[in-house]
Amino acid sequence: MMVMLIPVLLWSFLILLLLPLFLQWHHSKDKRFPPGSMGWPYIGETLKLYTENPNSFFSKRQKRFGNIFKTHILGCPCVMISSPEAARVVLVTRAHLFKPTYPTSKEKMIGPEALFFQQGAYHSRLKKLVQASFLPSAIRGSVSEIEQIVLAFLPTWKYATINTLQEMKRYAFDVAMISVFGENQHLEMEGIKHLYRCLEKGYNSMPLDLPGTPFHKAMKARKQLNETLRRLIEKRRESGKQEGGLLGVLLGAKDEKLNDSQIADNIIGVIFAAHDTTASVLTWVLKYLHDNQDLLEAVTSEQEGIRREIIEANRRLTWDDTRRMPLTSRVIQETLRIASILSFTFREAVEDVEFEGYFIPRGWKVLPLFRSIHHCADFFPQPEKFDPSRFEVPPRPNTYMPFGNGVHSCPGSELAKLEMLILLHHLTVTYRWKAMEDEDGIQYGPFPVPKRGLPIRVTPRPRNKLTH
Ligand code: HEM
Repeated sequence: MMVMLIPVLLWSFLILLLLPLFLQWHHSKDKRFPPGSMGWPYIGETLKLYTENPNSFFSKRQKRFGNIFKTHILGCPCVMISSPEAARVVLVTRAHLFKPTYPTSKEKMIGPEALFFQQGAYHSRLKKLVQASFLPSAIRGSVSEIEQIVLAFLPTWKYATINTLQEMKRYAFDVAMISVFGENQHLEMEGIKHLYRCLEKGYNSMPLDLPGTPFHKAMKARKQLNETLRRLIEKRRESGKQEGGLLGVLLGAKDEKLNDSQIADNIIGVIFAAHDTTASVLTWVLKYLHDNQDLLEAVTSEQEGIRREIIEANRRLTWDDTRRMPLTSRVIQETLRIASILSFTFREAVEDVEFEGYFIPRGWKVLPLFRSIHHCADFFPQPEKFDPSRFEVPPRPNTYMPFGNGVHSCPGSELAKLEMLILLHHLTVTYRWKAMEDEDGIQYGPFPVPKRGLPIRVTPRPRNKLTH
């Protein structure tokens, strides 16, 4: 009797297993999916993406299939989008249908209640608070503080060979710390810095939570970081002084109070979002200025004009000075375009979506390809040429998105630009730098940066008549 039952049970099990797949196939068989190849079963086109340069992987498929195509990467069906109008639909006009999506390990490390991972009412409440602490009106008072950091860093580079990326990371990290915790740095800061450094070592590791693995060590640091932040939050709550920075704004949240873990996740989230990004862009700025000496001289002369006024008036660099740097600002804009350090972002369809005449099933990933749009000759003629003058006229709407677009766009864009301007002001008038590698090349870690992080030799600028 038992022997007869076994095949019946096996068939029932198989039917139960395959039924949902059949129903999904049946439901979608008449639908028009985007063109493209899903590659091999399960592995899809993952190997191709990892063995090719990611930019050529995308551009080859874009040429073959058009601005919307499907592929299959890391076990996920994906739709790639490289038309500005379609990207706007995903990020802005129908953003509620496409939620942000990150690997669970990243969510665990940063903290699930951080802004990036959220949608809806909680996201918009938090976004307003985070935006408020990075508005020009909120950060204009930080110019002196940021300048102090620059003036402490630059002399340590003099006559030294430095790794540009590593130095820029240290700089952007210090700026992130003051913008998060305010100007009155606490005793806890050194501990927080140390724990954050342990945490970030795990960001790009395999999510294997076993003793000794980088992921395990990172998660341990994350727990300790939570404890330290919780104590700091308690101290600030008890003192009744919220003090400055993002922490002050989050502690002062009016309508509905934020709890400690919501505050901690967002503090760590902002430090994460603020420093590797800005450091990678600054590394590219130094590379492009190095490779375009005429441009470097023009930027220097813009900065020298401002420096001269500052010295004559015996004052410090101000917010208003940073608004009078049009060429330097265009160099930053063009670097953001050409380097496109966030080549794309990830969203996931929250339901079946009819999109630009195609069907996108619920659960599929949707990736607006910022880099492809920034490198499209229709919007940016000779896209591979570094030419800041192209920004003398504003780009066509929705074609320039280095800080994203829509509900999840970057709240830190003004701070990022400000810290780049302040550093470039002092660097260009005082120093010169020479790249130590002859060969160009890119490394990913995870953002694209010049090979080996751009080692440079820094020397004082010849015939430098200005002092500060
Ligand atoms: C040059 C440097 C930077 C670049 C290129 C950059 C780029 C971006 C982009 C493209 C997004 C949108 C991602 C998406 O739509 O999925 C984003 C989001 C974000 N950025 Fe930045 N960012 C930079 C610096 C900063 C800084 C300095 C801060 C903090 C002060 C910051 C905080 C954030 C946060 C919190 C989000 C998430 C917003 C949300 O989900 O609503 N970023 N950034």
